[in-house]
Amino acid sequence: MERDDLAKEAESLLCDVGYEQFNRDHKELVYHMLILKELLENISKREETKEDWAKIKEIMNLQIEKSKTHFATEEEMMKKAGYAELQSHIREHEMIVTDLLDIKKCIDNEEDIKYAKDLQSLFLSWIFQHSSNVDMDYRGKLG
Ligand SMILES: [Fe+2]
Ligand SMILES: [Fe+2]
Repeated sequence: MERDDLAKEAESLLCDVGYEQFNRDHKELVYHMLILKELLENISKREETKEDWAKIKEIMNLQIEKSKTHFATEEEMMKKAGYAELQSHIREHEMIVTDLLDIKKCIDNEEDIKYAKDLQSLFLSWIFQHSSNVDMDYRGKLG
């Protein structure tokens, strides 16, 4: 699939949480997981190489950094707005980061390509679940 189509697909799958910057972050997070999905589909037809692992790690590290920054920015804005659900929202973010870091260990060690698949599918379901349920709750409440 073309990169533009991937970006459109990412956008079409997401809810509008009411803040442009956060919508853009969500879209970017999904976009990179769709790129990983494509890479894994290619790899499934052959044996994975050192270059594949390098690419997977690059996408994963970027994804973890972007997720942390996104979560921190949301938390900052919720704090400023005195958002009532701040603590439970922070806990949700922490759970996602913990799971990401667990998978990261396995990917760093190149244990099994299955962990890259887990990262891709789990992250996509987290981001959809989280943005459409937990993030949607702050819509219109952060000023
Ligand atoms: Fe979010
Ligand atoms: Fe969030």
